[in-house]
Amino acid sequence: MKKNLQRLDLIFKNEHDTDVILQRTLARNDDEVINDLISSGLKGRGGAGFPTGLKWKLAAESQDDEKYVICNADEGEPGTFKDREILSSVPHKVLSGMAVCAKIIGAKKGFIYLRSEYTFLKPQLLNVIEEFHNLLDSLKLNFRVEIFMGSGAYICGEESALFESMEGKRGEPRNKPPFPTDFGYKGKPTVINNVETLAHTYSIFKYGPDKFKDLGIQDSRGSKVFSVSGDTPIPGIYELEFGMSLQKFVDDFGDGDSKAVQVGGASGFCVPRKRFGKTVIGYQGKLRGTSLPTGGSMMIFNSSRSMYNVLHNYLDFFVEESCGQCTPCRVGTQQLLIGIQAVKKGEQSSSYLDKLLDLAEAMRVTAKCGLGQSVANSFSSIVENFREEMIY
Ligand SMILES: Cc1cc2nc3c(=O)[nH]c(=O)nc-3n(C[C@H](O)[C@H](O)[C@H](O)COP(=O)(O)O)c2cc1C
Ligand code: SF4
Repeated sequence: MKKNLQRLDLIFKNEHDTDVILQRTLARNDDEVINDLISSGLKGRGGAGFPTGLKWKLAAESQDDEKYVICNADEGEPGTFKDREILSSVPHKVLSGMAVCAKIIGAKKGFIYLRSEYTFLKPQLLNVIEEFHNLLDSLKLNFRVEIFMGSGAYICGEESALFESMEGKRGEPRNKPPFPTDFGYKGKPTVINNVETLAHTYSIFKYGPDKFKDLGIQDSRGSKVFSVSGDTPIPGIYELEFGMSLQKFVDDFGDGDSKAVQVGGASGFCVPRKRFGKTVIGYQGKLRGTSLPTGGSMMIFNSSRSMYNVLHNYLDFFVEESCGQCTPCRVGTQQLLIGIQAVKKGEQSSSYLDKLLDLAEAMRVTAKCGLGQSVANSFSSIVENFREEMIY
């Protein structure tokens, strides 16, 4: 372990007072709990960063008497493996977050949408859920949680495609609006939160919003669980403060020869060495700005890596995982892949890369969902910063 690594343990501390914290939180006024979540500044950890307290408030305001709480444990973003660890080591925190949400919005049923590759987690989770149901009975909360197994499609992590797949249909994103808090699973108001988001709510119930808010930077409060992989001597899962500079991240995790960091997986941005000092890990980001968001995936590449191969790999992934529903993404992902292959083989001149950059940016504004819209993030940041590596 490197000397200066400030590892936090808000999430991973294994606390044995779930019953006390849950009882205390369920006894509180719903508005007060929501206000605590809002004032903590907690934003969704699944990637989009929507404020969690506001999401719960919107669902609570809906008058429908059938509502759902869903924990998104699809974890399909390349390089992300933190939700697996949270569900393995502190599942009771995630379930507590779901139960409090259920009480506040008036849901009687919840689901953990579990990535199919995590089938091995199912038996232990079922045991924890059974014990948790006994606790809920003793607290007189009428709420039950089931596990729904995903089938291995990245797009089914997108919330509306996830609902479609749970309803037995093809996992294809819906038009939005309406948003899940109005029209979610079975067309009913639904709160869907990432595993880590729900685990953070437990810390806020337990320690109060200020302790959470004191960590991080403006607009990016609290701690964040990162999955660190690639050219690092210490790959793994780390809970760190939000708002760290990428330079500090590389100093702590790199191997001394880091040439780029992919922040946010294949759908995130690639930051070259010259921008490490200017980039902060947090929400509200665009590569040209100073902060970049991430659902957790942090991949480090050293100078032995071909960034052409990295990009090729991401495009292979997008071609494979595009659900095919809309033309910009279905055709665009394939054309980007064919295009970089042609330039690399010398069949197209380097200026063809500019046309491909235009195509990627057109996908950002015309694709139907976050998958197609975010292809330009990695594509443009890799091509612009490592252009010489793309050419024959
Ligand atoms: C292609 C795609 C894949 C996604 N995969 C996941 C995922 O695996 N897990 C997740 O929590 N959110 C994923 N999301 C984001 C969800 O749509 C949604 O924003 C999130 O579950 C909301 O929870 P949060 O507010 O706690 O972040 C994905 C989005 C897109 C566009
Ligand atoms: S952007 Fe891609 S994944 Fe999303 S709806 Fe269109 S084809 Fe499907």
